[in-house]
Amino acid sequence: MYVFQTNKTLFVLPLHKLMSADLFEKLRNNMGPLGMHHKEAHGYFTFPKLEGELSPHMNFNGKTVLNWSINNYLGLGNHPEIRKVDEEAAKEWGLAYPMGSRMMSGNTSKHEYLESELSKFVNKEDTILVNFGYQGILSLIDAVVDRRDIIVYDAESHACIIDGVRLHQGKRFVFKHNDIENCEKQLERASKLAEETGGAILVITEGVFGMTGNQGKLKEIVNLKDKFHFRLLVDDAHGFGTLGPKGEGTGVEQGVQNEIDIYFSTFAKSMASIGAFISSDKDIVRFLRYNMRSQIFAKSLPMPLVIGGIKRLEMIMKSTEHKDQLWRVANALQKGFKESGFNIGATKSAVTPVYLNGTVAEATHLAYDLRENYDIFCSIVTYPVVPKGVILLRMIPTAAHTLEDVQTTIDAFNAISKKLNAGAYKKDNLVEASQLV
Ligand SMILES: Cc1ncc(COP(=O)(O)O)c(C=O)c1O
Repeated sequence: MYVFQTNKTLFVLPLHKLMSADLFEKLRNNMGPLGMHHKEAHGYFTFPKLEGELSPHMNFNGKTVLNWSINNYLGLGNHPEIRKVDEEAAKEWGLAYPMGSRMMSGNTSKHEYLESELSKFVNKEDTILVNFGYQGILSLIDAVVDRRDIIVYDAESHACIIDGVRLHQGKRFVFKHNDIENCEKQLERASKLAEETGGAILVITEGVFGMTGNQGKLKEIVNLKDKFHFRLLVDDAHGFGTLGPKGEGTGVEQGVQNEIDIYFSTFAKSMASIGAFISSDKDIVRFLRYNMRSQIFAKSLPMPLVIGGIKRLEMIMKSTEHKDQLWRVANALQKGFKESGFNIGATKSAVTPVYLNGTVAEATHLAYDLRENYDIFCSIVTYPVVPKGVILLRMIPTAAHTLEDVQTTIDAFNAISKKLNAGAYKKDNLVEASQLV
């Protein structure tokens, strides 16, 4: 007990109240693994501003850079037909309509039409739209499993899967990335446990892993259905629109779309918009409509996003022209890197990683040099996301890039890797690194 007195009042407080830490103080003292670098990184490496028209050539830090870091795979983001439809829809509907959640007051025929077109395209009985992919997957996982059920998931799954798994109150087993033997082992453990709990098993993986470009081993996982009883959820954020004969995704590409029980993708990549969808059997989608908390307790997608989504899907379904152009660029980029002796890992998608060896400090200087002196902007990933000593430069080709952009980039990479190998980026300040040319 602590007692103190002001002019008029006597205060009596329980001691623990005085002893507790201040929440804001705690946050200020520990900004987290990324936030701890905010002073050096903010505005340049983190929260950079890419301005101007959405395209491979955008303004950054006062100059035009060749941009390989936006997921506008099919180049639809700034396509004139899309822009026209987006604009007209915004003019006609504004951002407010419909109001409320789909279940309560936010349903429209347009939402249902987009769902039925998506179902046709990805070859599933039904589809539910969600407002964001991240929130959608999280809520999907939360809705479909209970404490008796077991989740088996790939170790390199996207944060939205990891966070969805965190919500799960039952057991979970993680398998080594794309390691089918290990997946089988985890399924054995999960099956034994499920027998005890009377629960079911959900396996979760991705169609394309966005950092490395590796495809998930969907075919091999599906083959495990001969031995184990489970349902398969695939996050195909990077495969939808880019893989499969028409862009139907990684399931179709690998010939196992029918065996994927729940198929998910976002509108944030090939569709160049906001929103996402989940496709499955009719009764499962009905279950989701009535049980996904992120949909029941949140506003439905605004009309311009739905109408814009219909237009984008129509363009994807009508012609492979955009996907073909994406692959012309992606193939040229990957071939160019390989011919120059770069390690691009085992990508089997448009995502193009370039692995170099160096410290985090060297990565910083190299990236600075690349941006300031070669006018190339791409994502840079270092330890702890990749192992110590590895620098990952991740390139996202799009249908809007040209073969000239590819050549410029290969030439620049040859130059910076020569400098890296000669130890030029070992200098310890950014200004020196920028003066290396
Ligand atoms: C694999 C994967 N899943 C889900 C998401 C989340 O999608 P959204 O941006 O629609 O929330 C992303 C990133 O956008 C992603 O890369």
